[in-house]
Amino acid sequence: MDLGLKGNKAIVTGGTRGIGRAIADLLADEGADVAICARNAGQVEEAVGALKGKGVNAIGSAVDVMDGDALKSWITSASKDLGGLDILIANVSAGGAGADENAWKANFEADVMGTVRSMEAALPALKDGGGSVVIISTTAAIECFGPPGPYNAMKAGLINYAKNMSNALAGDNVRVNCVSPGPIFIEGGAWNFIKDNMNEFYTSTLGQIPMGRMGSAQDVANTVAFLASPASGFTTGTNVIIDGGFTKGVQY
Ligand SMILES: NC(=O)c1ccc[n+]([C@@H]2O[C@H](COP(=O)([O-])OP(=O)(O)OC[C@H]3O[C@@H](n4cnc5c(N)ncnc54)[C@H](OP(=O)(O)O)[C@@H]3O)[C@@H](O)[C@H]2O)c1
Repeated sequence: MDLGLKGNKAIVTGGTRGIGRAIADLLADEGADVAICARNAGQVEEAVGALKGKGVNAIGSAVDVMDGDALKSWITSASKDLGGLDILIANVSAGGAGADENAWKANFEADVMGTVRSMEAALPALKDGGGSVVIISTTAAIECFGPPGPYNAMKAGLINYAKNMSNALAGDNVRVNCVSPGPIFIEGGAWNFIKDNMNEFYTSTLGQIPMGRMGSAQDVANTVAFLASPASGFTTGTNVIIDGGFTKGVQY
């Protein structure tokens, strides 16, 4: 199936590693021009070079999404530099470690406000011709997983935000969807760390996934690219779970 992404313009926050990088790579493979940001300037440079190597226009900047002004001004300038905007992927999280006040503030600033500010800054360009937003949540938002904490709660808020925004923006032909990945194994990522340092928890989590493996960044990117693309043109306000059967709640 042709996803219709050729010539689309996309912004991916946190696009140098892991799930964000797999999304940026796939969008570029499908012919979309891509802008990425992350904090590590060297990794941004490396990723932009690799994306350009796929024959598309690629740009990137070292931006911390917790710096609201810097994030908004980067989204605005990246939309202009790309020559418009069709797709926004809000991917950055402060992660799941910790439940003290600092952790709550970090997840609020990175996960919630990082997404809200990205959306607000991207909307003028997205509304100009219609567009699509995909927000990266997690299965930890929809079922009890680990100790109570800000990661699960803030990510749950994003699913609600996405649904409400999908209704508010439908008349502008802007679609808003979420994906909620289960455990995704990435070399050097969180589950790699857990495997090396908390092996009992890793093994027990793996044992709860009926498909018998953790997901890959590519598993998530494939679904995100489909949802973001014109091929999903009538899908908005949904939350797609990508977890190999890990969660047990029934979706109606
Ligand atoms: N991995 C999983 O099992 C899993 C499961 C469910 C949901 N998710 C969600 O998927 C998303 C991506 O996770 P991941 O595992 O791919 O993460 P990752 O491998 O740690 O990659 C995170 C990316 O975001 C960038 N980043 C982190 N903090 C940033 C900040 N404050 N400002 C700008 N860029 C920032 C990183 O680059 P710099 O460090 O250079 O900034 C990197 O490019 C997150 O929303 C996460 O909650 C992941």
